[in-house]
Amino acid sequence: MDKLVIHKSSLSGSVEVSGSKNAALPIIAATILTDEDCILHNVPNLMDVRTMLKILEGLGKQITFENGTVIIKATKKQGYVAPYRLVRTMRASFCCLGPLLAKKKKAKVSLPGGCVIGVRPVDLHIKGLKILGADINIEKGYCVADGKNMRGSHIYLGGQYGSSVLATDNVMMAAALIDGETIIEYAACEPEVESLGIFLKKMGADITGEGTPLVRIRGVKKLGGCEFDIIPDRIEAGTFLATSIATGSVLEIKGANPFHLTSAIEVAREMGTEINIDNARSIIIKPKLPLKPVNIATLPYPGFPTDLQAQFMVCLCFAKGISLITEKIYPDRFMHVAELNRMGARIQRNGPYAIIEGKEKLFGAEVMASDLRASAALVIAGLSAEDKTEVFRVYHIDRGYEHIEEKLRKLGAKIKREKQ
Ligand code: UD1
Repeated sequence: MDKLVIHKSSLSGSVEVSGSKNAALPIIAATILTDEDCILHNVPNLMDVRTMLKILEGLGKQITFENGTVIIKATKKQGYVAPYRLVRTMRASFCCLGPLLAKKKKAKVSLPGGCVIGVRPVDLHIKGLKILGADINIEKGYCVADGKNMRGSHIYLGGQYGSSVLATDNVMMAAALIDGETIIEYAACEPEVESLGIFLKKMGADITGEGTPLVRIRGVKKLGGCEFDIIPDRIEAGTFLATSIATGSVLEIKGANPFHLTSAIEVAREMGTEINIDNARSIIIKPKLPLKPVNIATLPYPGFPTDLQAQFMVCLCFAKGISLITEKIYPDRFMHVAELNRMGARIQRNGPYAIIEGKEKLFGAEVMASDLRASAALVIAGLSAEDKTEVFRVYHIDRGYEHIEEKLRKLGAKIKREKQ
């Protein structure tokens, strides 16, 4: 296993963001809906993406992945099983269920199981697909489903934590290829969901309202192949935004869509950071010390993303005063708190709240990455802390950040990967 060895660094220059992992994954699943070829550009070469492609190979697709372009072709082999061995490593693979039911009329998809950031149920996915007429049973850890009698319907998809990204994706994909009209109320509005809607429309789907809480889908008989560019990764861009603030470095983020990052940019400005949006694709960040404390609540889009909570917590460790983070999506997503406290941070967690008392300095330590975004936070903490930090279990970071050390090193970061 690898570890990252990091020293305090002052960064400068510009960094280019990769294609969005969370946009690419459901779009790859959506290609199940056609027998024609699909060509996807700007696909990040990440563990999660490769896992999704493996699942598709098991379902009968032939894949090539070179220089950020994935070509997905149908073969004669037919499959309908997404096995536990792959699904357990990545929850997003559960969004094969909707397209399999609509296209192959049957599916056997492993239930994803638990995960360190919380319970993460799939009840909304199952509710939505059942309302569309799918017959779904849980057998030996698998969702075994029959889609022969599916028809468009009216679905309220809100849950106790608001909308669900992948449940909206699952229902939207199934509804695109079954008879009748489907209306999803309380659909997720994340840019990745909107992007899936645009992709489905390029395949020939009849959809309006994607990216809003009310999506209308009129099922069509057949969907075709198409060529599509994956949108830039707003969470990677937000991670570099937090890196700039925590390390006090002037950075330019290129290739990101600033309009997908409004809530994080607003929080950064509240902390006293100057942010210039040069054109639609470049964000220039100039942090001003001392940082001001802020209160953040994570919320579904366009609210502040839970996927940036850990990274911004590191920034707040250096703010002059007390900040409050309320985690409204995953109330247990605080595994990084204990690790940051081991680096000298003063953070108290109480249920879904974290109270952060800012300090001038953090100190390097040996820390353990618990999940993807927590590992990014520990890397940022390592770059801003005195002395040496070693981040263990870095395989988490490889699930979601393409060429992370190379990108950081180009900005001047003292970071290297070593065998543990
Ligand atoms: C997606 C993102 C993930 C991000 C999350 C929230 C991908 C691949 N992953 O995950 O990075 O952190 O959105 O922005 O895009 N819920 C239920 N029942 C369900 C489904 C969800 O109660 O059936 C709850 C969840 O536990 C959570 C909330 O709804 O509290 C939102 O989760 P959801 O939007 O579904 O997250 P994912 O789509 O799994």
